[in-house]
Amino acid sequence: MTNPILTDADIDPSAIHDKTVAIIGYGNQGRAQALNLRDSGVNVLIGLRPGSASEQAARDDGFAPLAMTEAAARADIVMLLVPDEVQADLWNGGLADAVRGGATIGFAHGLAIHYGLIAPRADLDIILVAPKGPGKALRADFERGSGLIGLIAVAQDASGSARATALAYAGALGCGRAGILESSFQEETEADLFNEQGVLWGVIPELIEAGFDTLVDAGFAPEIAYFECLTEVKLLADLIYERGIAGMRVAISNTAEFGAAEGNGRIVGDAARAEMKRILGEVQDGSFVNKLMADARAGYPALKASRQRAAAHPVEAVAARMRALRDQN
Ligand SMILES: NC(=O)c1ccc[n+]([C@@H]2O[C@H](COP(=O)([O-])OP(=O)(O)OC[C@H]3O[C@@H](n4cnc5c(N)ncnc54)[C@H](OP(=O)(O)O)[C@@H]3O)[C@@H](O)[C@H]2O)c1
Repeated sequence: MTNPILTDADIDPSAIHDKTVAIIGYGNQGRAQALNLRDSGVNVLIGLRPGSASEQAARDDGFAPLAMTEAAARADIVMLLVPDEVQADLWNGGLADAVRGGATIGFAHGLAIHYGLIAPRADLDIILVAPKGPGKALRADFERGSGLIGLIAVAQDASGSARATALAYAGALGCGRAGILESSFQEETEADLFNEQGVLWGVIPELIEAGFDTLVDAGFAPEIAYFECLTEVKLLADLIYERGIAGMRVAISNTAEFGAAEGNGRIVGDAARAEMKRILGEVQDGSFVNKLMADARAGYPALKASRQRAAAHPVEAVAARMRALRDQN
């Protein structure tokens, strides 16, 4: 199934211009979205918890943060930009009662709605506007005059204009300059959770570490292993982004291209593909989300252990030295 790709030409920006948007949370996505919306002429309020560590950042950017429930009560669109695993507690702990009748509730990832962690009132519009990239890229691309690809979806359309609101919101973030795909909460959530574990954030760093270990264990200098296995990932990603995988192959040397063909299928063989299917199954049957929520409730023991493991890997010491050298020059 192919999804149509929409751009600014398909968007009626007036669907958001006279609206007040409450951004709940001022972190990765919250800051970038708040700034892009404000620069697009939207009235933005910031809602934070008492004593929030994000308050100063919001003030430095010229906002006057409010209590979360106050911001929500004053807004037409309430965007939940706090971590997925805390959204339901905040919603049930006050936001649900604070939001106006007929308001729009927005998400940048569909997890809380798709898995039923939040069950919204019937009078609300429930939309998804998911920029495909971290907040820093969303902001930097917007400032450069371009944008990030974004997905939109509607889970509940009480007003009859939820899609128009989602499109206009995505446009105000700058996504209409790059392309907006219509999706669903289910598709966005499951594909995103699959990718995080099975491709990008889970597997590629693990491949880098394994390649680094292989070279260092064989007696190569850690710096050489670092350059070969880590820094060139950026060049690869840029090439694939610009030209696609086939185009990337043409842009590298014949030796690299021949080596790439030789390596194909040896690491990502049948076993890896079967494991990808298992990962997708655990995303779709909810067992991954149950694990995530249990870890969050226990104070994130698994998440903290994984951060410690990553920080202790020998590639980090080389990376820190190399970054320091680069920053000196
Ligand atoms: N990160 C990405 O690149 C990305 C990309 C696309 C979509 N998304 C989605 O965007 C949403 C937000 O993700 P994010 O990465 O931007 O989140 P984040 O940076 O981790 O969010 C941090 C913000 O949430 C607040 N917060 C954290 N825990 C809280 C709690 N228990 N009660 C009240 N406030 C709390 C923090 O306040 P304090 O400073 O007070 O802790 C801070 O303002 C998620 O749905 C995520 O899936 C993220």
